[in-house]
Amino acid sequence: MDITKAIIPAAGLGTRFLPYTKAIPKEMLPLLNKPAIQYIIEECLASNVKDFFLITSRNKQAIANHLDSDPGLEHSLQEHGKLDLLSSISRIVRAAQFTYIRQSETLGLGHAIWLARHSIGKEYFSVLLPDDIISGKMAGLAQLMRIAQQEKASVVAVQEVPHDLVSNYGVISIKKQITPNLFQVGHLVEKPDPKNTPSNLAIIGRYVLSHKIFQALDEISGYATNELQLTDGITQMMKHNEKVFAYKIQGVRYDIGNPIGWLKASIGLALQNTEYGPHIKKYLDELNTPQSFLYDNNKNITHYE
Ligand code: UTP
Repeated sequence: MDITKAIIPAAGLGTRFLPYTKAIPKEMLPLLNKPAIQYIIEECLASNVKDFFLITSRNKQAIANHLDSDPGLEHSLQEHGKLDLLSSISRIVRAAQFTYIRQSETLGLGHAIWLARHSIGKEYFSVLLPDDIISGKMAGLAQLMRIAQQEKASVVAVQEVPHDLVSNYGVISIKKQITPNLFQVGHLVEKPDPKNTPSNLAIIGRYVLSHKIFQALDEISGYATNELQLTDGITQMMKHNEKVFAYKIQGVRYDIGNPIGWLKASIGLALQNTEYGPHIKKYLDELNTPQSFLYDNNKNITHYE
């Protein structure tokens, strides 16, 4: 089973990150010196997926500009011998192929994926939500692809979340546990009440899906109130005998769709980085001492009387 295509839905309004997201896409939030979208593209390239379909909307032009070549800048970096910087801006542009599809109304994640139906053949493909940044030894998407190829079926990424937070996620019910990290899915529930949740295994933003999802989304689109949910589409696809597995993805996952999650990601990624890590570690240690200004608001005030 070859999986060569990725759909990246990025047409959401980003209300949890307003006012920042009024004019700037949250996919362009910086994480150290790279925008979030670049981490997603690099995860795909590390998984040998090079054909991208980005679902975008108004005010998202910065994403396309970032993923395009810039001959003037590249020429200047070349002339000044700044070859490391040159490679940092041109590598992904050369390695990948980007197609943009506009979603003119935010009709839901399921609708965003459905818009790419003509770009995907009768094949399995991947979906990556750019809010979720996964940092680990093996690329998050590559982990899912391995399972999809082994089981010849669709796979969703899951992680355990605290019981009281299940209502923020789509959650799986376990039909069968196959290994400590791999489950066959019974059914999916979108944002369950913690009192009735089938598990604490929440779906996070990585999927490998069969093309059958498009027909399933078509079938339920007439019944959708407000937004067309991807989880409802997957449930419908399962009714047509497509098996779905859930894999507990190995690595740290950051949800950068809100300011606290983004700050945690910035600090977490900085601590793992050989260049930035020692500086941030020292700074965090300093903050954590009784001498820190956090504990003594008057520390830097000189009294002359
Ligand atoms: P979210 O539910 O997190 O919505 O979408 P959002 O707009 O990104 O953020 P908030 O909740 O308003 O703060 C999950 C993913 O689905 C995409 C989003 O861009 C995000 O990657 N999406 C959602 C679409 O592309 N189109 C939609 O109509 C809805």
